[in-house]
Amino acid sequence: MRTLAIYPGSFDPPTLGHLDVIERASKMFDHIVVGVGVNAKKEYFLTAEERVAALVESVHVFPNVRVEKFEGLLTQFARSLGAKSIVRGLRATSDFDYEFQMAMVNRRLAPEIDSAFLMTKWEYSYLSSSIVREVAILGGDFSSMVPPAVAKLLSVKIASNSVSQS
Ligand code: PNS
Repeated sequence: MRTLAIYPGSFDPPTLGHLDVIERASKMFDHIVVGVGVNAKKEYFLTAEERVAALVESVHVFPNVRVEKFEGLLTQFARSLGAKSIVRGLRATSDFDYEFQMAMVNRRLAPEIDSAFLMTKWEYSYLSSSIVREVAILGGDFSSMVPPAVAKLLSVKIASNSVSQS
């Protein structure tokens, strides 16, 4: 049986930590769908289209990985694709409560879908999308924290934001 897993997230922006989880998951499952969450009530730094485009460019080296955006419940999206696993990355223990709660709710909603957690690599354990956003907005160098496609997008975004504010 071919295995399909979903790797969901906000990816606002995608980081090297996300890419590492994608690469490792792509060796564990036959297919990975990176699910870019779109929540109409949430404010994002990057648009859904920007997050998807940056991920598509970053994962093209992995032939069994594709990127799709989704709205609504993750379990509905997973079911619509026939996924049997949800992959999430774990960094510090501070991630655990949120991940535990999400995994419990997802299991209640879709008992046939299991959650699988991949521990971060040491070098990415400090890294988060919110840290990258803050560094980028405050003019710091984020190039060692994100894939090249994301670095390019962030530079353009920051430049256009500062032009529109001046
Ligand atoms: O990168 P994030 O912000 O931690 O990703 C969170 C995400 C998008 C995976 C989560 O918010 C999600 O699954 N949203 C879809 C709504 C849903 O299914 N909620 C019930 C499970 S908590």
